[in-house]
Amino acid sequence: MIKELVTRNRSFRRFHQEAAVERETLKELVELGRLSASAANRQPLKYILSCQPERNALIFSCLRWAGYLKDWRGPAEGERPAAYIIVLGDTRISPAFLCDHGVAAQSIMLGAAERGLGGCIIAAVQRTKLGKLLEIPDYYEILLVLALGKPAEKVKLETVGADGDIKYWRDKDDVHHVPKRALDDIIVG
Ligand SMILES: Cc1cc2nc3c(=O)[nH]c(=O)nc-3n(C[C@H](O)[C@H](O)[C@H](O)COP(=O)(O)O)c2cc1C
Repeated sequence: MIKELVTRNRSFRRFHQEAAVERETLKELVELGRLSASAANRQPLKYILSCQPERNALIFSCLRWAGYLKDWRGPAEGERPAAYIIVLGDTRISPAFLCDHGVAAQSIMLGAAERGLGGCIIAAVQRTKLGKLLEIPDYYEILLVLALGKPAEKVKLETVGADGDIKYWRDKDDVHHVPKRALDDIIVG
């Protein structure tokens, strides 16, 4: 069951933008982050939720999508995320966040997948711009933006070939292919 969920939990970058994600759903997802592991149990993560079109547009303007797809500039209007969760580190609690935001992000994305949603963990964020646009206090470090919605694209896992190329790619039918290294290649001892 967990393998099925992890396998289904791909990075999706195109959505049915009109399919709303309620704030209550975002709160349920943050609850999964709240319950996740935290270094020294300091729990320095805080969250900003967005499911309003105006706020979503501000967040969207600060994101960079799919760096390997050179001729794609990100989701067009109509296929953009319906919601976002911004993961913040509260520097008043801890100066360093170690892996906390990665652990929490995966819990949240798995919860989204379980609900038939999908999305993308985004680290390529114009942080200064986003902080200004949303008036985020300086004591919060912007760690990740989680884009969420009802996926409108197919993503297929592949095994990395002999050339070792790990870049994801799209085929002529617009299916997104993601090469993963083989199990035998990552267990080294
Ligand atoms: C920490 C982290 C940061 C990421 N940042 C971005 C990003 O800025 N933009 C983006 O389009 N995808 C981003 N991704 C998604 C990765 O590109 C994606 O995980 C990878 O292509 C593998 O696809 P998969 O998630 O379906 O396995 C990020 C993923 C992780 C884990």
